[in-house]
Amino acid sequence: MSSQKQQIRRTTVPQIAGRKGGAPIVSLTSYHAHTAAIVDKYADFILVGDSLGMVMHGMDSTIGVPLELMIMHGRAVVRGTERALIVVDMPFGSYEESPGVAFRNAAHVMKETQCGAVKLEGGARMAETIRFLSERGIPVMAHIGLTPQSSHVMGGFKTQGRDEDSWAAHEADARAVTDAGAFALVLEGMVEPLAARITGQVEIPTIGIGASARCDGQILVLEDMLGMNPWVPKFVKKYGDLGPMIEKAVSDYAEDVKSRVFPGEEHLYR
Ligand code: KIV
Repeated sequence: MSSQKQQIRRTTVPQIAGRKGGAPIVSLTSYHAHTAAIVDKYADFILVGDSLGMVMHGMDSTIGVPLELMIMHGRAVVRGTERALIVVDMPFGSYEESPGVAFRNAAHVMKETQCGAVKLEGGARMAETIRFLSERGIPVMAHIGLTPQSSHVMGGFKTQGRDEDSWAAHEADARAVTDAGAFALVLEGMVEPLAARITGQVEIPTIGIGASARCDGQILVLEDMLGMNPWVPKFVKKYGDLGPMIEKAVSDYAEDVKSRVFPGEEHLYR
């Protein structure tokens, strides 16, 4: 009973879906219980993104991220939060093969982490899978535009929609995932007019990252906006400069240890 009550306090999938055209949806990534607890006070949903491969594990891309790593970080974020909807990314190779494989892996993620939804990349080509999962109790957030897991096919991390001839394909992707039952749609790395058109065309909220303010909500990678990533993409606004702050704290600590200033009187058990 008490755990049921706790679940009810969290933002639900229908609540996020119902925000279409309303107050902008606030979201950030998090991979870690302590930062998730802070983000939880302000975000409508938290994404345990597969960007954790680069941010937490020093990988070159998201391609090498295994399912078990997503589960491990997903559990930490669920444990650290109580309000926000938690969405866990399905990593490359865990859902593309068939709807059945996608269901098995997404159900494993949901059981092990207790998250409220999963996210997967791809438009029309993933529509059948999105329908299969949604009809079987797994809420899906879709992700189109610049899809990092397909960066090899796309020839790199390229802003989408610069050429107007490509718009129809992106619009068809948005329509296909909406009709298949996705409850929200991430638009990544997309020119503003295309993001605005898609936002106007679909009935589910669009969540922009590098896709302008003309979306129903925004998401950023937490470490990027906190200034912990030495390379800051153009679409990121830095809300903090934690990298230099952490470095200063670590170097002060090293100095104090070397000079025996730390631990001091106040840190001793007598
Ligand atoms: O993995 C990720 O961080 C993402 C973005 C949309 C934030 O998918």
